[in-house]
Amino acid sequence: MKDVINIGLIGLGTVGSGVYKILTAHKKDFRRKTGVDLVVKAIAERNLARADMVGADRELITDAEALIEDPDIDIVVEVIGGTEPARSFILKAMKRGKHVVTANKELLSSHGKEILETAEENGVDILFEASVGGGIPIILPLKECLVSNKILKVMGIVNGTTNFILTKMSEEGCSFEEALKEAQEKGYAERDPSADIEGRDAAAKIAILASIAFNSRVTSSDVFVEGISKITAKDILYAKEMDYVIKLLAVAKEVDEELEVRVHPAMVSAKHPLASVNGVYNAIFVEGDAVGEVMFFGPGAGSMPAASAVVGDVIEVARNIKYGSSGKTGCTCFRDLKVKAIEEINSKYYLLLKVVDKPGVLAKIAKIFGDNNVSLASVIQKGSRGSTADLMCLTHLVKEKNFQKALNQIGELDAIDEICNVIRVEECQNE
Ligand SMILES: NC(=O)c1ccc[n+]([C@@H]2O[C@H](COP(=O)([O-])OP(=O)(O)OC[C@H]3O[C@@H](n4cnc5c(N)ncnc54)[C@H](OP(=O)(O)O)[C@@H]3O)[C@@H](O)[C@H]2O)c1
Repeated sequence: MKDVINIGLIGLGTVGSGVYKILTAHKKDFRRKTGVDLVVKAIAERNLARADMVGADRELITDAEALIEDPDIDIVVEVIGGTEPARSFILKAMKRGKHVVTANKELLSSHGKEILETAEENGVDILFEASVGGGIPIILPLKECLVSNKILKVMGIVNGTTNFILTKMSEEGCSFEEALKEAQEKGYAERDPSADIEGRDAAAKIAILASIAFNSRVTSSDVFVEGISKITAKDILYAKEMDYVIKLLAVAKEVDEELEVRVHPAMVSAKHPLASVNGVYNAIFVEGDAVGEVMFFGPGAGSMPAASAVVGDVIEVARNIKYGSSGKTGCTCFRDLKVKAIEEINSKYYLLLKVVDKPGVLAKIAKIFGDNNVSLASVIQKGSRGSTADLMCLTHLVKEKNFQKALNQIGELDAIDEICNVIRVEECQNE
């Protein structure tokens, strides 16, 4: 039985430095918890100054290839991010019989099948808790604690940058641009924030969660994505008046043996637990047939929260090595469900129109909706500005393709000055 487990750390950036700090600070505790010494034997990092910053011996620094080839290394921790060379490093490490822990959502959501199959073929562990929700435990809870359930829906706020922006707009009535600027100043948004605000980061995360929750492989390219850049202060205000908040939701659910997997801004009832998840926090709401509804909440990013999840995985792998149970939480995608096209989903919609303020306009709009099987729940005129007025429509549950067809026809009416926005309204059981 092993007494020492050697770790090779690839990447000593935001997450990697946190991993190093936790592994060294709690070394004695981890010995007591696992019965083995967890030793960082090598670090692959291009920037030597980073080793000095975390107090790591420069002797540990090597390159990733040498680290992977080192026969003494048992666990490779990949925290460089991106698809390549991370994919090649991980595949090579597993083929050399090494267990892998990664935080890489981009890689898992695009090459998950290849990575998990390679782990299985080589009898090694691949754990990736930090790839979704940062410090929030969600992947192992779905694979283990909730395994007795048929999962009905997974819905979450999985991107802190966009949640910060929407919270700011909601609390202070500021514009999207002003809120984004503040997010960048505070370090919550990158200089190029497009992956966050256009929803691609959240799409990768929901692809991973959907694959696990519904036991069927979903990649990020299967996910319908719409970002938050078109949300205005007026949308947020009108949502508030109807007791809704606007959130960037990542949603995956099974409907009639098919999957809906989507990321888009959505109005959520102010009474729903996700509505009060504010700032950079993340939360993931899971509905299971046995457990009912559970919510996982916490810091979705940051050096130490993400490192907490990575080191948790390292300890799980170490225990598996010690007790000869490696590979026990491998690939769980044994179904092959179709992902529905967005046109086929049913949703409620909020539509804001700027219309010419004259008699008969409402009747024309109502007729187009009726002709396309779109049932209206309410229509409210929100004040008149000279010759135009804002018209806010809320629909019942309707098919997306019917709504879009009606919207195209409405857009052609002379009386429509502008289609200001369309936002889906998320149906929640406990509204
Ligand atoms: N940051 C978070 O809050 C967070 C949360 C959850 C998950 N994650 C995930 O964790 C991973 C790492 O993110 P991060 O924020 O820690 O990134 P980061 O701060 O950019 O750190 C990555 C580090 O890896 C180094 N690196 C890149 N390629 C390398 C190579 N070939 N060999 C050796 N070192 C290399 C980089 O060095 P250079 O600077 O020289 O390029 C950098 O020091 C990503 O997959 C990310 O999605 C991050």
